[in-house]
Amino acid sequence: MELLLDTANISKIRKALDYYPISGLTTNPSIIKAEGKIDFWAHLKEIQDMLGKQRTLHVQVISPDCEGILKEAEALRSRLGEDVYIKTPVSKEGLKAIGIMSREGFNVTATAIYTTFQAQLAMLAGAKYLAMYYNRMLNLDIDADKVFRQVANSIREGNHQSKIVGASFKSVMQLTNAVEDGAQALTVPPELLDTVFANPSIDKAVADFRKDWIGIYGDKTLADL
Ligand code: G3P
Repeated sequence: MELLLDTANISKIRKALDYYPISGLTTNPSIIKAEGKIDFWAHLKEIQDMLGKQRTLHVQVISPDCEGILKEAEALRSRLGEDVYIKTPVSKEGLKAIGIMSREGFNVTATAIYTTFQAQLAMLAGAKYLAMYYNRMLNLDIDADKVFRQVANSIREGNHQSKIVGASFKSVMQLTNAVEDGAQALTVPPELLDTVFANPSIDKAVADFRKDWIGIYGDKTLADL
C-alpha cells in the first residue's frame, strides 16, 4: 500500500513528511486555490524539493481539451522533470490525452473517476494510477466499495500495471474500506491522517503503561537504565 498526501500546503506537507510514511503527493486546482494566489511553479518546485526523488508528485491539468492537456503536460515535464505524473480527469478529451501521453512515455494519473468503466478505460489507455473519488461516489449514491472492488479485480485479472489511488476521503473508515476493496494507494488530506490518533484510548494506554513502569523503576526510560 502507498500513502500520498492530498494537499499543497507547505507547512502541512512538512509536518506530515516528518510523521507519516508518505510516498507521494497529489494536487488539483481546488487544492491549489486553498493556498491563495501563489506563484504556482515556485510553489510546486518547493513541494517537489520537499518530496525528494523517492516520492511521486501528481499535478492536475486544467485544460478541458486534449490539445490543451498535451501542452500542459509538456509544461509540467519541462518545469518539474520527466518523473512528474500528469493528473488528468477522465473526460472524453482527457481519455484521448491519457492514451497519447502514455504512448509518449509520460507518467499519467487518471483522475475524477466515479465509475468502474471510466477507470477501466483509463487503465486500458495506459494510466499508471487511477484516482477514484470514494466520498464523492457516496454523495452520488454510487456504491464506492463495489466500484473499487470491480476495478481492483480488473487490474488483477488483466495483470495490468495500473494502481488504484483512492481519493476524496472524509473519514478514516473510508480509508480502511478502500484498502479492503483493493486500493493499492490512498491520497489523504493531512488533517484526516491526524484524526487516526484523535482517540483517547491510545493516549490512555500510553499513560497507563507509563504509570506501571514508573511504579517500579521511577521516572526513568529504557535508555536511562
Ligand atoms: O485529489 C482530490 C480528490 O481527493 C477530491 O477530493 O475532497 O474534493 O472530494 P474532494
